[in-house]
Amino acid sequence: MQRHFIEFTTPDTAAMMTDTVTTPDKHEVLINVHHSGVNRADLLQRLGLYPPPADASPIPGLEVAGEVVAIGEEVTTCSIGDRVCALAHGGGYASAAIVREDHCLLLPDALSSEQGAALPEALLTVWYNVFERGMLARNETALIHGGSSGIGSLGIQMVRAMGANALSTAGSPERCAAVAKLGAEFVANHNEANLLEQFKEAGYAEQINVILDIAGGDLMQANLELAAPDGRIVCIGVMRGMQSEINLATLFMKRLTLTGSTLRRLDTAARAECFQAIREHIWPEVLAGNILPVIDSTFPLADVLAAHEHMRSGHHFGKLLLDCRVS
Ligand SMILES: NC(=O)c1ccc[n+]([C@@H]2O[C@H](COP(=O)([O-])OP(=O)(O)OC[C@H]3O[C@@H](n4cnc5c(N)ncnc54)[C@H](OP(=O)(O)O)[C@@H]3O)[C@@H](O)[C@H]2O)c1
Repeated sequence: MQRHFIEFTTPDTAAMMTDTVTTPDKHEVLINVHHSGVNRADLLQRLGLYPPPADASPIPGLEVAGEVVAIGEEVTTCSIGDRVCALAHGGGYASAAIVREDHCLLLPDALSSEQGAALPEALLTVWYNVFERGMLARNETALIHGGSSGIGSLGIQMVRAMGANALSTAGSPERCAAVAKLGAEFVANHNEANLLEQFKEAGYAEQINVILDIAGGDLMQANLELAAPDGRIVCIGVMRGMQSEINLATLFMKRLTLTGSTLRRLDTAARAECFQAIREHIWPEVLAGNILPVIDSTFPLADVLAAHEHMRSGHHFGKLLLDCRVS
């Protein structure tokens, strides 16, 4: 099968390339990709700041949705003709992608392939960081920073669906109001002075059990102060800086846990375990329409640089997608 894919020939240029895709290995499936999700990590990869792991495809793109067109000889959970969304170990910015069968979710008729492609990376990132590492429990409170992001907009809905309370942050009053509509009980504006005071005034000081931090930098000390005793803070991004000055006394006085992860470095088996947990706990809520991806816009695959620029500008709300159906 012929595959069209994107190669970043320099940090500022993208070329549409063509090759012949290999056949899937025994536990893999070949997907005719209709849509692919755009993630912050892709922008960093393009700039050479986030090289893919050695065993990953050098082609960018971490999540896809489309139709299964070939399966490996030992595949049992997917069939040719199934509509699926999947996490890709690279290779998503393409008209065809090979993924592991246990990294796929079957799409119901009610979900479009655009909606499907908007799900895997956010589902896995939130599940692993908020529920596995952060151990968020029913009736606890989670602060999901960046509620207007692809990760945050789905994360708030997942927290609510699992019976916990969601708080969030966003960058303007309008964006805060839109994030509140996703189910966040209170949304602070991180561009206004004193984030800490906003949460204190709203009655959440030291009431927050789990914090998903997508920005790092100067946000970290505020996280430590906002957390409840025995709180868990999980850092997954550094948009505000890789360095943080923190008061370690805050950490030990409240017995806090500070951790983090990156999905790209999680091994295959751990990702498959997350998918299984998501099938059990989250997917029924997706099927019931209680969790829906928020989609900002979709660009043709050939316009990938415009999609990246839109993400870099920060004007989007929710997920950006690529239409990979190249004729
Ligand atoms: N570690 C992992 O495994 C993993 C996986 C996926 C994503 N991530 C990280 O998670 C973050 C979100 O990813 P995404 O793909 O969902 O990106 P995205 O949709 O582009 O979201 C970025 C969001 O960050 C907010 N933001 C921008 N500057 C900020 C600042 N200085 N302080 C606080 N918030 C700021 C923006 O919202 P406002 O303008 O409303 O503030 C924007 O909605 C990124 O940092 C990404 O690298 C990590």
